[in-house]
Amino acid sequence: MPVISKAAVADGHVVSLATSAVPAFDRSRGGAAATHVAIIMDGNGRWASARGLPRIAGHREGARAVRRTIEAAIRAGVSWLTIYAFSSENWRRPAGEIIDLTGLLRRYLQTEIAELKESGVRLRFIGERDRFDPDIQRDLAKAEADTRTNTRLNLTIALSYGARAEIAAAARAAIAAVQDGTLKPEDLTEDRFAGFLTTHDTPDPDLIIRTSGEQRLSNFLLWQAAYAEFVFLDVLWPDFDATHFDAALAEYARRERRFGARAG
Ligand code: FPP
Repeated sequence: MPVISKAAVADGHVVSLATSAVPAFDRSRGGAAATHVAIIMDGNGRWASARGLPRIAGHREGARAVRRTIEAAIRAGVSWLTIYAFSSENWRRPAGEIIDLTGLLRRYLQTEIAELKESGVRLRFIGERDRFDPDIQRDLAKAEADTRTNTRLNLTIALSYGARAEIAAAARAAIAAVQDGTLKPEDLTEDRFAGFLTTHDTPDPDLIIRTSGEQRLSNFLLWQAAYAEFVFLDVLWPDFDATHFDAALAEYARRERRFGARAG
């Protein structure tokens, strides 16, 4: 599917890209490089129904796009990549699709992890992993343990993830620390609070990409996204490739990030 250009929205910090009009990202040319890219992978179902295929065909093709994206991130020198594979709300989908999605995850863990390990990828998972079957939970823990010493790319996969639930859990953990005397309420700074989030060992995302033309955060990294730049692409996730990834990085490099301060 072609990537369609859209007009800039609001103050220009929310735009869609025409990849044909955007030069691919080239680290040697300077500009701000994104250290951490997070992606809301959207549009698998629409990709499948546009072809008269079952939704699982879109998810399968989406898994291939994940592979391409990991390769593109490594090539571009991005150190951190976080992908939203399954939201806590996705459990509300019909049982057949849940079985298909968890089956795909199971196969992904069994077939892709060895290669990711070889490629220098360190895996982390965030989200309510105890909602998955025990064999999947075991494979998640094993993938994390097996890749712990890798440093080329830090890949976080959000599974049964919801940011509000994550923030509520962090609040409960902070309260428990106050109650057991290890934390004084006045010491609960933003940084200390972030230490209670599941992303405590991960930098905040610089760039968040969402595919499929939708422009919302859908309960993804709400705390961590405070200063992220957003790039919304009119491409369905199964069609996403290195061209789109590089174009989003190039768009990010053109943005001026002020973190609330004044320009100049
Ligand atoms: C959104 O498309 C995508 C998902 C809910 C699942 C994401 C899964 C993958 C990309 C493949 C598996 C990934 C791994 C890591 C195993 P949608 O179904 O909401 O699409 P629609 O909005 O067009 O219906």
